[in-house]
Amino acid sequence: MHNIAIYPGTFDPATNGHLDIIERAVPLFAQVIVAVTCDSSKPTLFSIQDRIQMIKDVTQNYSNVRVEEFSGLLVDYACKKEANVIIRGLRAVSDFEHEFQMASLNKRLNPKIETLFMMTHEDNFFLSSSAIKEIAALGGSLAGFVPNIIEERIKQRLSN
Ligand code: COA
Repeated sequence: MHNIAIYPGTFDPATNGHLDIIERAVPLFAQVIVAVTCDSSKPTLFSIQDRIQMIKDVTQNYSNVRVEEFSGLLVDYACKKEANVIIRGLRAVSDFEHEFQMASLNKRLNPKIETLFMMTHEDNFFLSSSAIKEIAALGGSLAGFVPNIIEERIKQRLSN
């Protein structure tokens, strides 16, 4: 098994939906690189270092998972890492158009890299990082949405 997969995203912060995708990718690939973008178009609550550290903390039991920052074109980063697969999670039909556009553009930019879509577990269909931040800001519980360690970091960050 020589396939290296990149799982890219903003991860501000990573949720149980992201972790479910990572855990399911782990047995399928020799290496899974979680690639955290440092030039997101969205304003982020957490710094790039914090977003990376949180994912490292919750994936430390997986020896074939690496967490890195990336900037620039995703296909160029994938090429540099000798990855041949980009993983994306699909939650609902509404994700499809955006994901279809990204996958098609990436295919045009580098036909050797395949985008693989994984269905998000039904328990996480409704999750998004923005929703998590909104619930936390309004004092709601994040139990079942993010790991405890990430819930603690969100609360700390919001109280600062
Ligand atoms: N479970 C729960 N939520 C999920 C999820 C899952 N499995 N997968 C994604 N989400 C949510 C995220 O939390 C995020 O929520 P938010 O908008 O509230 O923050 C939302 O879905 C979008 O996910 P994200 O991972 O941030 O993806 P993105 O669509 O913003 O894309 C990159 C990020 C890094 C992949 C993309 O910007 C990129 O490729 N950049 C490089 C530039 C490039 O190469 N461009 C050319 C190709 S288009």
